[in-house]
Amino acid sequence: MVCHPWWRGGVFYQIYPRSFCDSNGDGIGDLEGVRSRLDHLAWLGVDALWLSPVFPSPGADGGYDVSHYCDIDPVFGDIAAFDRLVAAAHARGLRVLLDWVPNHTSVQHPWFHSSRRDPDGPHANWYWWADKPLNNWSSAFGGPAWTYDEARGQYYLHLFTAAQPDLNWNEPGVQDAMFDTLRFWLDRGVDGFRADVVHLVGRDPALKDVAPRAEPGLNDLVNSYRDPRTHEVLRKVRGLLDSYPGERMMIGEVSLEESADVVTYLGTSEDPELHLAFDFSLLEAPWDAEVWRACIAGAEIAHAPVETSPTWVLSSHDASRHRTRYGGSEAAARVAAVLLLTLRGAAFLYAGEELGLQDATVGRERSRAPLGRDPSRAPIPWTIEEPHGWTGSQSWLPWPPDPGCHNPQALRRERGGILWLYRRLLELRRTTPALAHGDLELLDSPPGTLAYRRSLPRATETAVTVVANFASTHRLVPYDGAVLLESSAPDRRGALVQPSTRQLLLAPFTAAVMREPMPHRPG
Ligand code: NOJ
Repeated sequence: MVCHPWWRGGVFYQIYPRSFCDSNGDGIGDLEGVRSRLDHLAWLGVDALWLSPVFPSPGADGGYDVSHYCDIDPVFGDIAAFDRLVAAAHARGLRVLLDWVPNHTSVQHPWFHSSRRDPDGPHANWYWWADKPLNNWSSAFGGPAWTYDEARGQYYLHLFTAAQPDLNWNEPGVQDAMFDTLRFWLDRGVDGFRADVVHLVGRDPALKDVAPRAEPGLNDLVNSYRDPRTHEVLRKVRGLLDSYPGERMMIGEVSLEESADVVTYLGTSEDPELHLAFDFSLLEAPWDAEVWRACIAGAEIAHAPVETSPTWVLSSHDASRHRTRYGGSEAAARVAAVLLLTLRGAAFLYAGEELGLQDATVGRERSRAPLGRDPSRAPIPWTIEEPHGWTGSQSWLPWPPDPGCHNPQALRRERGGILWLYRRLLELRRTTPALAHGDLELLDSPPGTLAYRRSLPRATETAVTVVANFASTHRLVPYDGAVLLESSAPDRRGALVQPSTRQLLLAPFTAAVMREPMPHRPG
């Protein structure tokens, strides 16, 4: 009997809490706001929601600078509001993931205060201190990775902003304290965690130089962290999560370029590590069928030997929204939705993509995020009329384009709209075993198109074929009498059948999902 834990093919919905929904009129989203919109998620049909950090934070990096791991920032509510949110989500069959930030704390965290003030105290070595910068590393956000601290009279290491000192996971105290933070939330009923840059936690204390490169970036540094200590930590985390009932899980952010490298953080079936690991290949891929095909092939090859599941992400709080990346084309975004939700593995939706949202224009004066990552963090419009379901004062960032059209109130009325497409795709995925658990086989298809088949070994289960036209002109793809289950086109007829030629004419920027008999077998 094959086991299908919920997360393997789960659909996760990422919420950037400041931007989701405001309940108290301060222009900043909060936990009560999230709770008030859970029916939207349940209607859509996702399995889980993941909240970007909601912990107390001075906000130097949008909440990824945590000053208390076991509390809620007052701007978002309090522990009681969090408990109410989890209960309300569970009542709707939705699981809840928190964002665990293990690589660094805020400079305002009491551990860092103690560490910088008392070089002989209990937290003395919880961070990386040195009399001078020990290596040539630069921070992922630019500038040196070492900053001088007056109080301690030494430099500390930070891979991100200087307000985010790196924890020293070689210290047993750090491990124990951070594992306790997991237990705290697991005991409150959370279903799992998204773990921030978790591949960075283990490192060789030698902190060796990296080879100088024209444009140093995190990926260069990461190569110097390929250290068995990370895997030891992840095995312990896995043991902790698996000791709880109810299939708790962790998806790790492993920002490595190659899928083959990413899967090493999943461990083996005897010694498992992360349950899932992010693969950002599609988040970075241009709108090009060949590139997508290579990403999918790369992930399938990487996951096959370890029998693990790929993960797919098109948008996030760190990147430009994919519709914007595709030149604003809603048709392309609809094709992308069909692919995201029919590929093998777990799918991650970034709140608002089901509304066809694009990036907002954020002037310098309102920009807050390091690296200018604000445009995809704009508030979600909920209603047609201003202030679009937000209450009171101006929201913390400007609206994305056309908020009066791209909101659930307007789109629930449009059966042909992108919101209903996401909903139908999610339902199809839930009710079609080949899409939920089937293998994936890439099929030959004409240039500018992508085709794959999802099937289960059991002959009784119907196989599904997905074809997508990335091009701005029509494309003929082989067709063999299959039944059209879904199309990305608003009228659902964008895939036109031409039975005489045994081919399917796909309109520009259109995808179709079809049921057996399959249209084409690879040569
Ligand atoms: C990855 C997060 O997604 C990003 O927003 C953050 O800036 C860095 N990790 C540092 O925590």
